[in-house]
Amino acid sequence: MARPRRRRTGGLPALAGVALATALTGCAGEASLLDPAGPAARRVSGLWWVMFWISMVVFVVVLGFLVVTLARSRARSETVDRRPVKWGEPFIVAAGVIIPAVVLIGLFLLSLRDTSELSGPSADEGTPVTVEVVAKDWWWEVTYPESGAVTANEIHIPAGEPVRVRLLSTDVIHSFWVPRLQVKKDNLTDRVNELWLEADEPGRYRGQCAEFCGLQHANMLFYVIAEPRSRFDQWLEDQAEPAVATESAGRDVFLSSACSGCHTVRGTSADAQVGPDLTHLASRSTIAAGILANDRANLALFVTDPQGVKPGAIMPPTELTGEELTALLDYLESLD
Ligand code: CUA
Repeated sequence: MARPRRRRTGGLPALAGVALATALTGCAGEASLLDPAGPAARRVSGLWWVMFWISMVVFVVVLGFLVVTLARSRARSETVDRRPVKWGEPFIVAAGVIIPAVVLIGLFLLSLRDTSELSGPSADEGTPVTVEVVAKDWWWEVTYPESGAVTANEIHIPAGEPVRVRLLSTDVIHSFWVPRLQVKKDNLTDRVNELWLEADEPGRYRGQCAEFCGLQHANMLFYVIAEPRSRFDQWLEDQAEPAVATESAGRDVFLSSACSGCHTVRGTSADAQVGPDLTHLASRSTIAAGILANDRANLALFVTDPQGVKPGAIMPPTELTGEELTALLDYLESLD
């Protein structure tokens, strides 16, 4: 009788390949947890690697036993030996209970230590800079309470110093995450959460909302910009100033159109709190919560068709003549 042919499928290897590719691409790029740039993220990535290698060892050992067992059972399939194995029971106890317990308890203690280390800077560093980050559908309001500076979607910090970040939300739960610097933490509506940000070196670190919060969740980005202390101080001083008070046609358009109904420009009569504070808009590198470069073409696009850029955002399209739009763009670009 002909033996049924063994089915050959690439199912498992293909699945493993897809999983590996997904894992690798998911970890790569601008915001990788495995490319830490500060003490907190370094701790997280260290713990990740410890867990990874322990899992690899366990995986290889278990796979080894499986292969040996399969090979043996194939070799002896004709004569099944049903006598109990002498060392079977102690082996089950050791490999099934004692070793897993030791590994899991060890990892648990390691996680506890790292979690408590992550809750604050170890040394007393004097009075740290405090930043308040309020998450809103779907952008981040960034306030420096000591100086009164307000900006959006861009958090400047002095490099090499721990900065206290106070997290809040005005609508739903969001989550503040800068993978290269810190673990994620939720922005809640009814209580303030705190975390510490510290970057070793000056640089630009991408952050992302990490809690599903609605239609534009994936487009709720921000950037942390770490600078040498002197540059940071200058930036903060500039951001705390009101806007230049020069009269212009563009300023008139801004103040008489829908813009002033939602945005603040300090130093003018526009003081609404619905959308981002635009006092120093031109100094930011992006608009629309990190998804567009801050240039004239993108500003024009976002002013005239915000729903095309971010469907569901609160901002309505602004109806302007060509001349008004040109004047408004001139004004927005002057807000540095
Ligand atoms: Cu905000 Cu997701």
